[in-house]
Amino acid sequence: MKNSKIVGVGHYLPERIVTNQDLEKMMDTSDEWIRERTGIRERHWITEGDTIASMSHQAALKALERAGMEAGDIEFIVFATMMSDQIFPGGGCFLQQKLGLPGVPAMDVRNACSGFLYALATADKFIKTGTYKNALVVGAEIQSTSLDLTTRGRDIAVLFADGAGAAVLTATDDPTDGILTTHIHADGNYTDKLRVEQPVVYHNPRLHPGIFEGDAIYPKMEGRYVFKHAVTKFPEVINEALEATGYTTDDIDLLIPHQANLRITEAVGQRVGLPPEKVFSNIQTTGNTTAASIPIAMSEAIEQGRLKKGDLLCLAAFGAGFTWASALVRF
Ligand code: COA
Repeated sequence: MKNSKIVGVGHYLPERIVTNQDLEKMMDTSDEWIRERTGIRERHWITEGDTIASMSHQAALKALERAGMEAGDIEFIVFATMMSDQIFPGGGCFLQQKLGLPGVPAMDVRNACSGFLYALATADKFIKTGTYKNALVVGAEIQSTSLDLTTRGRDIAVLFADGAGAAVLTATDDPTDGILTTHIHADGNYTDKLRVEQPVVYHNPRLHPGIFEGDAIYPKMEGRYVFKHAVTKFPEVINEALEATGYTTDDIDLLIPHQANLRITEAVGQRVGLPPEKVFSNIQTTGNTTAASIPIAMSEAIEQGRLKKGDLLCLAAFGAGFTWASALVRF
């Protein structure tokens, strides 16, 4: 059995920066409330020309460059996003076309904030079994166009943002190197706690005036409920990865959790017993970019010298579904 190793990570954030002060002009909120409750100061939203395909393309090119590889080396693409640029085909196919890789399989994963780790686990298994040597794992998301930018939608509108991140995986024969373990979970009993209700695909036509009555076309979240589950499931799935490999919290050099809320990240760090310097946060400047948040954070952690070769890296996520996941990686 092979292991798969992350050899290049890249990200792309749209140029447009939306500050909390900008949001104050759109809805009844305040910089103070947003910072205190979420840690977020600003986030990136797309402008004309940014698409899921274009952002993921930029992130993938950066990841390939850092891996010292070319697009032609990639044999498998796993693409995590909640929505493709169009309802179909999937985002992976649009990226594959941009990379010029006809014939290379492109798989889409729709597991919200846990999507990148589901995608990573999938690519890892294909490499482990010897099916492919090099894979590209992507998380890309446009959330800003889904938001209710009035006071009615403020609890969610201040959180979510856009961006893309990508990681290049390659096979290694060293069983102590690369991705050591991955763990993925879901519980569909909680589908109603964080979701977008409309449009539904079983209504013909899917788009009809009725869906615009009320606020069913916007994301809905029971914030406190989600918060409580997140701070329980993150530590659970991190411990699962530690138990599977025989490592302890003390061995972890850096924890990069999905960036949902700074208070969640801090609570998770405390619950697993990691000091703040071993827990990475960039939500202050990115907001919650759902499937893109972990690869963007990895890429920024590398740029800041916080994540180095040889580090024991723990990745963890929690999101809609509910879904939750972790990975332990010798970086
Ligand atoms: N600006 C100002 N006030 C706001 C606001 C905003 N953007 N959003 C909500 N409020 C108000 C509420 O209306 C409420 O007012 P009330 O007390 O008069 O009713 C008050 O702030 C408290 O709301 P509450 O929802 O209890 O706040 P909270 O401390 O739970 O924080 C979240 C809200 C959404 C930040 C928090 O619950 C959260 O982060 N949840 C998990 C999010 C998450 O992880 N989601 C994605 C999973 S990947």
